Amino acid sequence: MEFMQVCGLRRSIRFYKTWQPVEREKIQRILEVVRLATTCPGNLQPWRAIVVDATKLDPKDRDLLLSWDNYQGAHRTAPIWIYWFANVEDGRPQAFQKRVHELMDVGALASCHGWTHEAIDAAIEKGEQAPEGMPQISMLHNMPQEMSLIFARSETVGACAVACLAAVNEGLGTCLHMAANADKVPELKKFLKVPDSWEPVWLQLVGYPAEDPEAGGQRPRYPFEQLFFEGQYGRPFARDENVVQELKREGLIRTPAPKPERFQELRYLAQMFGFPV
Ligand SMILES: Cc1cc2nc3c(=O)[nH]c(=O)nc-3n(C[C@H](O)[C@H](O)[C@H](O)COP(=O)(O)O)c2cc1C
Repeated sequence: MEFMQVCGLRRSIRFYKTWQPVEREKIQRILEVVRLATTCPGNLQPWRAIVVDATKLDPKDRDLLLSWDNYQGAHRTAPIWIYWFANVEDGRPQAFQKRVHELMDVGALASCHGWTHEAIDAAIEKGEQAPEGMPQISMLHNMPQEMSLIFARSETVGACAVACLAAVNEGLGTCLHMAANADKVPELKKFLKVPDSWEPVWLQLVGYPAEDPEAGGQRPRYPFEQLFFEGQYGRPFARDENVVQELKREGLIRTPAPKPERFQELRYLAQMFGFPV
């Protein structure tokens, strides 16, 4: 699919075809995209995922996982549940050191910008000032574990965003959810047998949409001028109407919600799935 179409068609899908399985290769393709397209500081790659085929779960286990997400309606109909985790070990200074050495060794970080193995080691191990041209990575020296978790989590959010677009590119619907209430996190980790250093970030639901892929239109967004500025706050980034028209033609900017037939669609969906109307 064209990139702008993918971006324009991504919606949080909350009704899935329970009767249509998702091809295994499509899930692999999503994961392959996340692996290669997601960026993060120092190439840390803290994201991890456990793919759960909900259609193959023992009913008791299925109920348990659903209960930890408060039995949300979308969760109940999605056939594939991808649990995204952040590995705090990948956010530690030593991991950063190793990954940045690797980036130098493959020619991604250039010595002409001041990068050397010695400067990386001195900044991270001893807190020495980085030479001009390098980022101030001495901040990583003695960085507390909680900070590593913040890094790992926030970078995994980026991976989830990429995964959502990748799912749409496969013709699938997707939605992010909280994996489990905070008090159930230890149980979730035990259930999925993940290492201690992994912390749940988001749960990604995947399946074929039972609702129209437009899902009633594009969801409300703040005005462009309220979000983006030029040079300084208070000077909105000037929005060129020609670009807006072009993006409409390319499929990014589409009909805003609610489309006229949306509430009727929701009533039919509720009846079909046996949700209260
Ligand atoms: C990290 C994250 C968590 C979310 N959690 C939920 C959720 O638990 N339940 C839900 O129905 N929607 C959830 N959403 C969907 C948002 O409510 C949705 O993105 C927002 O309404 C904008 O709509 P759109 O994604 O269709 O553009 C979540 C979205 C994100 C990005």
